[in-house]
Amino acid sequence: MVTPSSFQYKTFFFTNKFLPCSLYLLLSIALLHFYFRPLPFLSSSEIDLPPSILTTTPSHSHLPSPSPPAEEIKANETPITPCDYFNGKWVRDRRGPLYNGTTCGTIKQGQNCIVHGRPDLGYLYWRWKPTQCNLPRFDPQAFLQLLKNKHLAFVGDSMARNQLESLLCLLATASTPNLEYRNGEDNKFRRWFFPSHNASVSVYWSPFLVKGIEKSNSGPNHNKLYLDVVDERWAGEMGKMDMIVLSIGHWFLHPAVYYEVDAVLGCHYCPGLNHTEIGFYDVLRKALRTALNSIIERKTAKGEAIDVIVTTFSPAHFEGEWDKAGACPKTRPFRKGEKELEGMDGEMRKVEIEEVEAAKAKANEFEDRFRLQALDVTKLALMRPDGHPGPYMHPFPFANGVQEHVQNDCVHWCLPGPIDTWNEILLEMIKKLEDQTRMGVE
Ligand SMILES: *[C@@H]1O[C@H](CO)[C@@H](O)[C@H](O)[C@H]1NC(C)=O
Ligand SMILES: *[C@@H]1O[C@H](CO)[C@@H](O)[C@H](O)[C@H]1NC(C)=O
Ligand SMILES: *[C@@H]1O[C@H](CO)[C@@H](O)[C@H](O)[C@H]1NC(C)=O
Repeated sequence: MVTPSSFQYKTFFFTNKFLPCSLYLLLSIALLHFYFRPLPFLSSSEIDLPPSILTTTPSHSHLPSPSPPAEEIKANETPITPCDYFNGKWVRDRRGPLYNGTTCGTIKQGQNCIVHGRPDLGYLYWRWKPTQCNLPRFDPQAFLQLLKNKHLAFVGDSMARNQLESLLCLLATASTPNLEYRNGEDNKFRRWFFPSHNASVSVYWSPFLVKGIEKSNSGPNHNKLYLDVVDERWAGEMGKMDMIVLSIGHWFLHPAVYYEVDAVLGCHYCPGLNHTEIGFYDVLRKALRTALNSIIERKTAKGEAIDVIVTTFSPAHFEGEWDKAGACPKTRPFRKGEKELEGMDGEMRKVEIEEVEAAKAKANEFEDRFRLQALDVTKLALMRPDGHPGPYMHPFPFANGVQEHVQNDCVHWCLPGPIDTWNEILLEMIKKLEDQTRMGVE
């Protein structure tokens, strides 16, 4: 039976500062190992988790609709039709991306696919078509106008950084940002300033949102999470933030020990430690709840306004082994109906959507000052197996022919790439929030 140690993923992960792709697969396998002892090995993308893990089948029917409420239409404005941006399909688009790897200076190496020699560029020529409406092409001036005198912070793991870098590239086509601050290993904390609009955009590394001790070569080989304690590395600066995008998920698959009120609550994949295996869905739920509660409490205590967007889980697309060529070989999106949201991807999303709804209900009385929405990208993302760097996380991986071992990233997104669409939807969401408020005060 497969165990994580046999993969030597520690070496891969720590020496390359490359987070989830390998672990994603490995820990999915670990999960399988736990719950599926009698079953033969299946790749993580092929399985349905059993009822013991999936208490309910992910489905839209019982979830609150993520679409905004109907709005009054003012005669002198373009009609605002409520649109569910999160159901639709990818359609071909001849226009291609809004920026490229040479015009944007902030793309992390591992996601700079064109510059790294990815030969097929068809993945750049698709746009997301929501069933009910058209998603406008990203308008950097409009976004910057909405950010005027504000600070937008991305908080989370490397998917948060991926989305932030996409946004910076999109905005940089209209106005050049200055990197004002950077700190932390691998520049995990950074802030840019757009002098043109007195606007700041930043990123805070916090893969659990709650206090966590990340596993390391010198320390324990599992993460420690303190589920009732918010991570002050970002929460301590909340007072300076006007808008927060939270994006987490993949780090919850790692081996971990969970603490609550200073006692051990349980663990995930901790052989050798005498703790109860509790999986990670409820843990994700608790962490997100702690983060959202602390935003509600701190911001409303000071009477400060805050907009919070939770980007939902972005599925990985490993089809083969992470260290072999062809791990995520697709070069076009799935067609409508070709791939259903299910298993862990669906469950992670469900937890996040439910916690967003619960926090909304809790903060109902602060309606205008605390505005919270889910950026429900899970299904959009699921349909894009073609958008990952794969072997092009490294420059020209096949320059010397196909080697036996080829690292693959089938988790993050090429820039430019599908993740630019997350920010196109983010813009529409922020526009709607502003419109609602404007109509409320007028
Ligand atoms: C990148 O974009 C710039 C500006 O639009 C353009 O001049 C340049 O040719 C593009 N490079 C590539 C490789 O497409
Ligand atoms: C710039 O924005 C900050 C808030 O982010 C605000 O405090 C400051 O007054 C703004 N400056 C100007 C000149 O508007
Ligand atoms: C494991 O924990 C249980 C319950 O806390 C205890 O009874 C048992 O002795 C422990 N086993 C070991 C090997 O520490």
